[in-house]
Amino acid sequence: MKNSIKLNNGFEIPTIGFGTYLAEEGDSVFNAVTCALNEGYRLIDTASFYKNESGVGNAIKASDLPRESVFLTTKVWNTDRGYESTLKAFEESIEKLGVDYIDIYLIHWPANEKQFGKEAKSINASTWKALETLYKENKVKAIGLSNFLPHHIDELMETAEIKPMVNQIEFHPGYSQFDIAEYCKANEIAVEAWSPLGRSSALNNSVLSQLADKYSKTPAQICLRWEIQNGIIPIPKSLTASRIKENFDVFDFCLSDEDIILINNLKPYGKSHASSDEIDF
Ligand SMILES: NC(=O)c1ccc[n+]([C@@H]2O[C@H](COP(=O)([O-])OP(=O)(O)OC[C@H]3O[C@@H](n4cnc5c(N)ncnc54)[C@H](OP(=O)(O)O)[C@@H]3O)[C@@H](O)[C@H]2O)c1
Repeated sequence: MKNSIKLNNGFEIPTIGFGTYLAEEGDSVFNAVTCALNEGYRLIDTASFYKNESGVGNAIKASDLPRESVFLTTKVWNTDRGYESTLKAFEESIEKLGVDYIDIYLIHWPANEKQFGKEAKSINASTWKALETLYKENKVKAIGLSNFLPHHIDELMETAEIKPMVNQIEFHPGYSQFDIAEYCKANEIAVEAWSPLGRSSALNNSVLSQLADKYSKTPAQICLRWEIQNGIIPIPKSLTASRIKENFDVFDFCLSDEDIILINNLKPYGKSHASSDEIDF
């Protein structure tokens, strides 16, 4: 596959994906995913929490693309943590998606000590055990995490049989969590960037505007290219056909090392979410 990244189990996935958070079930998500597939995206990111799995699955089916050419990610939500509930949530997801396997299945957020005290670690371990079962049964091609901080992963690894293949974290100019990304790389865990455009708040920045002029690209394309060149897989979301196209058109230019460093060193701005140790949902 052109423009792919190999996960630690040898499974190859595209270097850019398409996000679907806030793409509503029905025509909205169906049209967006259809447009994305037509433009060439092959990695589609959803979650049971987004309540749009049926529309995502319908768009993939309607595309007539071979199933194995589309890389489908979904996630187990926080209220379904634990071994049995995760297995049940998985069955519900594949039924809504209308598929018989998922490419990448992620734990959406770690259980944290603030909410669960000392139980947090065993909750995460049993949720992970369910993902391992699904992986061994070949119902998922790869398993991973989302929003896990290094200390959550270290704890998980105390009981895990299988190393996570992916960690999906917030990552964009102004909020580049390089500490987590470096930890993941050192542990052969691929990093996906959620909110790679900072939900568009990352775009309004003079450095990005100057670089957009320099490379005859848009600030969004500069963001996405910067993530890809940092070895991070961005999964931008858009419901707008022209932006879906624009966000995929990032393979005909290369940022210089100096310009990458310029973006790496931007002053913090645009962080959209509380820390995984602080959330209470
Ligand atoms: N694992 C997690 O906890 C987690 C959390 C958040 C998100 N995610 C995943 O990551 C995906 C992406 O993150 P996100 O949706 O939060 O944010 P995002 O992709 O950074 O930004 C999406 C927003 O930017 C706008 N936009 C898209 N392309 C643009 C462009 N070229 N120029 C200007 N504006 C543009 C979109 O507007 P329009 O739609 O109106 O075009 C939308 O409002 C999600 O959809 C979801 O799949 C995962």
